[in-house]
Amino acid sequence: MTDKHIVLQADAVTKSYVRGKSAGSRFDAVKDANLVLEAGKLTEIIGHSGSGKTTLLNMAAGLLTPTSGKILLDGTDLYRLSDKELSKLRNEKIGVVPQGQTALSVLTVLENVLLPFSLYRKDVPAYAVKEAKELLSSVGLEKLTDSMPSELSGGELRRMSIVRAMIMKPQVLMADEPTGDLDKENTAIVLKMLRDAADQGTAVLLVTHEADAGKYADQICQMEEGKLSWKAV
Ligand SMILES: Nc1ncnc2c1ncn2[C@@H]1O[C@H](COP(=O)(O)OP(=O)(O)O)[C@@H](O)[C@H]1O
Ligand SMILES: [Mg+2]
Repeated sequence: MTDKHIVLQADAVTKSYVRGKSAGSRFDAVKDANLVLEAGKLTEIIGHSGSGKTTLLNMAAGLLTPTSGKILLDGTDLYRLSDKELSKLRNEKIGVVPQGQTALSVLTVLENVLLPFSLYRKDVPAYAVKEAKELLSSVGLEKLTDSMPSELSGGELRRMSIVRAMIMKPQVLMADEPTGDLDKENTAIVLKMLRDAADQGTAVLLVTHEADAGKYADQICQMEEGKLSWKAV
């Protein structure tokens, strides 16, 4: 790909918090971070626990309003949209795999994956069901479509949540430490899913504290005490 297509851009984003009760203990969880996510590229953010990775990902995903700075998705300034417009745009264009387990326990695997559809439509279209089943099969979950999340292993659950994040064919896919609690085999499967999504044209952001994910990345950034810096791959 010669033309670079910037899908998402974080422009000097800062998130300040007040720690404890005294207003004097203000600190920046993320400070003036600049981030560019391109179509077809996998960008990785590495950094220690508490360095600000999740805070930045949540701001980039439209889930957490920055104290200052902008997030532009295809030129649209996310935090200038109304709540309703932002939710709709997030639903259509941004897939998020949050840290930890987020499956809805009362829904089957297939229903969990179709949630992004059922949120905004009365009936889930047949093509979406077909697509969901195909995606689940492609990551070895074909036999588990009607299972409940409690019957799945950690690796299977994570694969399910990545499929859910991908079901709307988002322009951006963001995963927050998706392999932190997985064994080697599942780690490799999950990283390959993210790499494949990038190869199919998605702008992928992978947040991790594991260095071994580096071989899947097109660009690597490091977060240290809220400051993001670029590293050569
Ligand atoms: N809602 C909050 N209020 C106050 N401090 C917070 C809040 N969320 C995160 N923090 C702090 O911001 C820093 C960065 O947190 P986080 O982004 O979760 O780090 P990471 O994902 O790299 O582990 C931590 O020091 C954390 O305690
Ligand atoms: Mg985190």
